[in-house]
Amino acid sequence: MFRLWDPRVLTSRLVVRYLTVGFLAVFAVANYVLWHDTESWDTASLHNTMAFGHKHPIKKLMVEAKAHHDHLLDRRSHDVEAAAARYRARRGRHPPPGFDRWFKAALDADAIVVEEYFDRIYKDLTPFWALDPNIVKRRANAWHWVVKVRNGTAFGVGDVEGRVPWLQLWTALVKEFAEHLPDVDMPINMMDEPRMLVPYDDIAKLVELENKERKLAKVNEVTAEFKGLEHVDQDKPDPYDPEWFGPSSQYWDLAVKTCGPGTPAYGVEQLKDFSAPAEFPRNWRPSYALKGFVQNWTAAMDPCLQPHLRQLHGSFIEPVSLSSTHELIPLFGGSKLPMNNDILIPGAMYLTPDEFYSGGENHGPAWRHKKNGLIWRGVGSGGRPKEDTWHHFQRHRLVDMLNGTTVSRAEADGTRAPTFELPSSDMYANKHQRRGELGAWIKKFADTAFVELLPDDDCDFFAPYFKISEPIPMNRQYAYKYLPDADGNSFSARFRGFLRSTSLPLKATVYAEWHDDRLTPWVHFVPLDNTFQDLYGAIEFFADSDGPGDAAARFIAEMGREWAETVLRREDMRLYVWRLLLEWTRVCDENRHTLGFVGDLKS
Ligand SMILES: *[C@@H]1O[C@H](CO)[C@@H](O)[C@H](O)[C@H]1NC(C)=O
Ligand SMILES: *[C@@H]1O[C@H](CO)[C@@H](O)[C@H](O)[C@H]1NC(C)=O
Ligand SMILES: *[C@@H]1O[C@H](CO)[C@@H](O)[C@H](O)[C@H]1NC(C)=O
Repeated sequence: MFRLWDPRVLTSRLVVRYLTVGFLAVFAVANYVLWHDTESWDTASLHNTMAFGHKHPIKKLMVEAKAHHDHLLDRRSHDVEAAAARYRARRGRHPPPGFDRWFKAALDADAIVVEEYFDRIYKDLTPFWALDPNIVKRRANAWHWVVKVRNGTAFGVGDVEGRVPWLQLWTALVKEFAEHLPDVDMPINMMDEPRMLVPYDDIAKLVELENKERKLAKVNEVTAEFKGLEHVDQDKPDPYDPEWFGPSSQYWDLAVKTCGPGTPAYGVEQLKDFSAPAEFPRNWRPSYALKGFVQNWTAAMDPCLQPHLRQLHGSFIEPVSLSSTHELIPLFGGSKLPMNNDILIPGAMYLTPDEFYSGGENHGPAWRHKKNGLIWRGVGSGGRPKEDTWHHFQRHRLVDMLNGTTVSRAEADGTRAPTFELPSSDMYANKHQRRGELGAWIKKFADTAFVELLPDDDCDFFAPYFKISEPIPMNRQYAYKYLPDADGNSFSARFRGFLRSTSLPLKATVYAEWHDDRLTPWVHFVPLDNTFQDLYGAIEFFADSDGPGDAAARFIAEMGREWAETVLRREDMRLYVWRLLLEWTRVCDENRHTLGFVGDLKS
């Protein structure tokens, strides 16, 4: 093969002309394939097409994101030797005992094992390595609700009378692989909201100690013998409850203590009075965004980087059930703020067959049969709204921003709605907004409404702003192309259903979940800023029917759906929790520093 940069080749005008024509032909084909609504578009052409000509920042973000996703996928492990080697390189320890059986189960389930997809486990467990294993295992053992495994059998312990069925759902998941587990106790949080907020300095010390003690044990010292839990079971310790704050304490003031010095939120206190309109940051140029569109999703979720979120999210204004501690105790739950120290497992709602969350097995019509519009139905949750606070809540802000009447009024006389501010036009070159037609466009494009308001539908203070609508089942919402998603009291459990649907999810959140390291924003869903200032800009890019956006939207919707069917299956949740519990058993054991799997190094 000749090389393009060989001067002998380039001096030949004929060849140059030939190359130019060839290049243009490839470009034209790629352009056609990607941006036209054909059945046979090819994902590989995304790169070729978007590298040329198109200037919109979302295109650049999509290209970057696709490269990131592909790069990770290249690191897939196909045998236990590769998986264990990557484990050691990334974690600085041997894998835990039982890793080989876990890997075999992953192969049997066709699961994609990329070491980075499990990073969350290590972020969550790191500080526990610095606590006394004997204390941790006793606290885990005696907690009020525990999924236990003894002699290869899983069962739930705790009073579930009148409670959400989470203990049962999580126990059923662990039952699927309990025969392969050592004895273990998984204490669970039964509240919507996460529980632990360990101050920054305390966590820093624990992490430092873990770092100091971490080492790759000598192969001949490694053991698979656990000290086990028999002595704890015999002792029957009492449940341990740390000092709990709440319900009246300000969640923000507790949470902000986890922010490091040098973060913008460090030392920023909560407002005393929320009656003023929701306040948006001035000259908004977030470091984690490209021209206003989210570029670093991890940073975009982090309230320590965005002190304005103290008054733009219900969790920080008045959570429904606040009960929080500064102490590090073992507790597993479905979601948390980046600042919480709870240990993440897949949300129980992802494990229920209830169609309310999953949308069932009907994932909606093909893209070209969908309505070019956006739909949202939901409860006005997110905290406990009051007359002088509700306009700061994320769901109320979202529904109001997508209410054409409200937007038109803001456009007409410049008075701002209590919930939002029109985005600055020098940041987003929004054509509808420039023409003063944003409200009219939203009215046609978006269908959003609450199906229920809290504390109750009859609250007088909501009357001028919201009209209650009939619920629409999730699978009927899939008849629309665009599905925005916002946090409720904690994470929004519809996200997995949205990803598995044939529609395009647009998501803003401050809640971390088990799956974050395996999803890539701009490839599998559209990330939104928690201010929603980018919302109009994003939907205008995607939804303009004559531009390239529609094909881009369809690309993400279809990539997201395929990926969810590949890495967010029940099998994948099972494998995640299985691996987490292998690690957790080791952290809780007196032999933790020598426990390991070295089978691959011995042969
Ligand atoms: C597990 O097995 C051990 C030894 O066979 C036995 O002593 C113990 O009672 C068993 N535990 C449970 C919970 O069945
Ligand atoms: C994204 O933001 C996080 C949190 O601020 C940071 O740790 C990480 O390095 C950033 N990633 C990139 C690629 O810049
Ligand atoms: C939209 O806002 C108007 C007031 O601007 C309000 O009357 C109407 O009920 C809102 N619609 C919905 C669906 O909440």
